[in-house]
Amino acid sequence: MSGSYPIGSLLPSQRHLAASHGVSRVTVSSAFDQLANEGWLSPARPNARSTAALPRHTRGLLAPQLTNSASLDLASALTAAPLVDLRAATLRALDHLTSHLRSSGYHRGGLIELRERIAFRYTQQGTPTTADEIAIVPGALRALELLAADRVGKWLVQQPTYPDALEVLRARRSRLVGWAFDSSCNLGTLREAMRRHSPTHAYLCVDFHNPTGVNLSNIQRDNLARAVSGKVVCVVDETMRELRFAPGPPEYSMAHFLPNAITIGSLSKSVWGGLRVAWIRGPRDHIARMVGDGRSVTWLTPPLEQLIACELLDDFDASLRKRTRELVRNRDSIVKALRSLGFQVQVPDGGLTVWVAIGQSTKVLAERLAREGVRIAPGQAFFADGVGDHFLRIPLTLHASDLEPLLQCLSCAD
Ligand SMILES: Cc1ncc(COP(=O)(O)O)c(C=O)c1O
Repeated sequence: MSGSYPIGSLLPSQRHLAASHGVSRVTVSSAFDQLANEGWLSPARPNARSTAALPRHTRGLLAPQLTNSASLDLASALTAAPLVDLRAATLRALDHLTSHLRSSGYHRGGLIELRERIAFRYTQQGTPTTADEIAIVPGALRALELLAADRVGKWLVQQPTYPDALEVLRARRSRLVGWAFDSSCNLGTLREAMRRHSPTHAYLCVDFHNPTGVNLSNIQRDNLARAVSGKVVCVVDETMRELRFAPGPPEYSMAHFLPNAITIGSLSKSVWGGLRVAWIRGPRDHIARMVGDGRSVTWLTPPLEQLIACELLDDFDASLRKRTRELVRNRDSIVKALRSLGFQVQVPDGGLTVWVAIGQSTKVLAERLAREGVRIAPGQAFFADGVGDHFLRIPLTLHASDLEPLLQCLSCAD
């Protein structure tokens, strides 16, 4: 950063630096890790020296590099991988892979060591769970797809909700019934929607809900469970659950209040979308049926990825703390910027998104921003029935200083 080592130059060895600075190898090694994590060093391979580098992007560690032609992509809430933690977990997992190479590799329902670790995490968080209540799936969306395939009917969905989930349900030709959802979790409107439409299933997200960021309290979860219990089969998407900003115990999983609920978890947001490791938690007989079905071979997750997940879960809280620290910084800057423009914003305590009513059409705004190479998701995408045009979802993966083109547009009256 001071320019002592030109970009591309080889750094002295860690042993040399430790000796010349009179510090331990461990201190130098953790400094190298941090610099590599921030992009200032190209990661060293075993037995190789590190090279000074410029960070590949200046937008913090969470924002992924763009793979499309946009100069700024605010249409999705995606993150780059936690470089150092994921790399270290991968190297450890490789050691364990050897003992699996003599197996067929077809582990229907997932590796037992991963199922056990996930069950343990539910148990630790107050919902006793065993490995046979867990099946490993390559991604939360794939999990929903599998569950929706056998459950074509009328699905109750929150309005707004996660757009890709709507697409999955629509693709199965299920009918969608909207329930207006916000932090008040109005059960009157829920009961009314259920009375009028008699849905058979519900797709719910109550942990740092995408897009609103709402996280229901235990009391609200309990009341919601009572309102739906015995009336609809609930599929609860807990993908955002581990992205909690405040310390302290999380709320209970909905499975705690609704023993028959099927919940979906994933490492896509808490770790990386490229690690296709997610899971379904459900009643034992349900999981046994899914795993025993001949089609379970179509949703296998590669053993190496599962072993990496095992390694990550063994030190999960520490790596989550690093991830959420940056999200909190971004959230605070975005909330401040939006409030300075006069918008009312509910401050999310977790998750990846801020949701704001902007008083103008997001469809029109999207067209205007597209001309500058900026992508946003029109508000309507989050609703089952095409309303919601004046709502904007902003991902917390970026700092407000990166959102200049959007904030500029928001500050001009229509
Ligand atoms: C609520 C929710 N569920 C599921 C997903 C997708 O998860 P996966 O990448 O594990 O399929 C997302 C991604 O944004 C999400 O927000």
